[in-house]
Amino acid sequence: MVAGATGTVGRHVVRVAEARGHDVVRVSRATGVDVVSGLGLDAAVRGADAVVDVLNAPSILKQPAVAFVTATTRNLLAAEARAGTAHHVAVSVVGIDGVEAGYYAGKLAQERLVTASAVPFSLLRATQFHEFAEVILRQTRRGRVAIVPSALLRPVAASEVAERLVLAVEDGPGGRLRELTGPRDERLADLVRRLAAAEGDPVHPIEVRLPGTYWRAQRSGVLRGGPDADRGTISFEEWLAARTG
Ligand SMILES: NC(=O)c1ccc[n+]([C@@H]2O[C@H](COP(=O)([O-])OP(=O)(O)OC[C@H]3O[C@@H](n4cnc5c(N)ncnc54)[C@H](OP(=O)(O)O)[C@@H]3O)[C@@H](O)[C@H]2O)c1
Repeated sequence: MVAGATGTVGRHVVRVAEARGHDVVRVSRATGVDVVSGLGLDAAVRGADAVVDVLNAPSILKQPAVAFVTATTRNLLAAEARAGTAHHVAVSVVGIDGVEAGYYAGKLAQERLVTASAVPFSLLRATQFHEFAEVILRQTRRGRVAIVPSALLRPVAASEVAERLVLAVEDGPGGRLRELTGPRDERLADLVRRLAAAEGDPVHPIEVRLPGTYWRAQRSGVLRGGPDADRGTISFEEWLAARTG
């Protein structure tokens, strides 16, 4: 079962899993299951060998992010315990230790629930997806200008994260897995500029230093991960070419 099957990484998880011969139950509100309320969840989990959680909180603010992951992770793990599911697979974010702020407070809360659960788990930390640039361009563009938060990242293709998640399903519960990062360091403002140019609608990004723990982590480079992480192979340029070409 894939919770978040219509999302950025969830779509790839479904595609990769089906290509490798798995029967996939798709879960999202669009398929009539609400993981926050638990509506329809028991029926969706029943019979699943593994549950892949690629849901996403509706906000990067701390309170709604923590509330979302707490409700959804508890509901998933409880449904899995009732159904006797043998494996919970979750994805979190590289480099967030000690960053109890904004969205990352939610991811840390999710990690604690998953690792404390009686349901055997695999937990993959990945860096920001290349697709993150699409979200930021959409949110920050004002005509020919985009006001982009300063961030130093090592982005990875969502498709490569999905492949790793499906392999984790096949390998069985592995606990905390090796982190997955992208192949190159990038500045978020530069990703936004290149994406807009590739779409034929250029933008001039203006990089700004936003206050607070969450944005300090983004610009410090800590979210790029360390030398022990696995590196994806698809660069932003290659992802862009495949997307627009
Ligand atoms: N994006 C990144 O750069 C990045 C980097 C590292 C890790 N991650 C992690 O990867 C995971 C997935 O992120 P994403 O960017 O792929 O997410 P996304 O594109 O925002 O997709 C979220 C999915 O969750 C579903 N969903 C939301 N609320 C739901 C609810 N109440 N009940 C059932 N389904 C619900 C959505 O479908 P409906 O709207 O139909 O319900 C959608 O399928 C997250 O855990 C995130 O922290 C993301």
